[in-house]
Amino acid sequence: MSQLKATAIARANIALAKYWGKSDVPLNLPAVPSISLTLEPMRTETTVTFDSALTDDQVMLNGEVATGKARTRALKVLDHVRAIAKIDHKARVESANNFPTASGLASSASGFAALVAATWSATGMERDNEVWSAMARQASASAARSIYGGFVELPKGKPGDAKLAARRVAGPDHWDVRIVVAVANEGAKDVGSTEGMTLSEQTSPYYRPWVDCSDALAEEVRQGILARDLSKVGEAMEQSTLAMHACMMASRPGLLYWQPATLAALGTVKRLRKEGVEVYATMDAGPHVKALCHAKDAERVAKALADSPMVLRTLTAHPGADLEVQK
Ligand code: DP6
Repeated sequence: MSQLKATAIARANIALAKYWGKSDVPLNLPAVPSISLTLEPMRTETTVTFDSALTDDQVMLNGEVATGKARTRALKVLDHVRAIAKIDHKARVESANNFPTASGLASSASGFAALVAATWSATGMERDNEVWSAMARQASASAARSIYGGFVELPKGKPGDAKLAARRVAGPDHWDVRIVVAVANEGAKDVGSTEGMTLSEQTSPYYRPWVDCSDALAEEVRQGILARDLSKVGEAMEQSTLAMHACMMASRPGLLYWQPATLAALGTVKRLRKEGVEVYATMDAGPHVKALCHAKDAERVAKALADSPMVLRTLTAHPGADLEVQK
């Protein structure tokens, strides 16, 4: 019996300039550029073992056997790497998140980044951030950004550009900011991102305007990060978030991810700003509000958000490192 094994640790990320829409569905290329912050301590740890004794692939997510879509998406990554490495052993995948699935942070980004890196490394091939990022992007575009720590951009893709990968804007030590997540509910989301963005593209009258404004907003976020200018990043981030949600809401049927707690938390962010705190909000395809602020203000922001009506709890994250591999 022969075994090939590796473990990868990837962090979740939050988009400061949002991705919503695809320019090429089979290659999963984004129609808009996005920029994210990699988050510590929200991690996925994934171990992949190619084992000649296995007769089928085994995928375990958080201690449970993965079935359906989750299994299919994971097997696609295994098959892709097997084809490149010319290996035909079956694999055992064991993946676990140290943050709850309903925490308001997507586990698919860190999950697919860790899966690609662990599978690749288990075959004995050398680390290749660009190849990993492109492969993770094909599984879930936000996952392309979790290969790198700190501030990361994923350019929009021209149809057919199979190699499109994310790249670093600035490392985790560049800027000591915090993301405070206000958790608005515990349930899983109604409509996932992949399905939601296809619906928006096909039915939302605001899809084109959203795509058209995304380049300038991403550029503003990028410049704001480089200049460590929180108001610049924050204003562009809020507009990117609200333009994306306007596009979502105007889909048919409408994608309304907001809950009462969402509005309360957004109101709190606005009030804190009036009180002189530099804090700005973003949201993804769910009701949770994520507030960007300076490290020195994080406690005050977390307390105010936790005290907002209907907000369940908060989590605070700081800039995280590059994906790590252990063999
Ligand atoms: C709203 O990366 O989950 O969180 O590529 O279809 O897997 P797929 O979509 P996914 O979309 C994330 C959308 C978002 C914004 C963002 O993270 O940029």
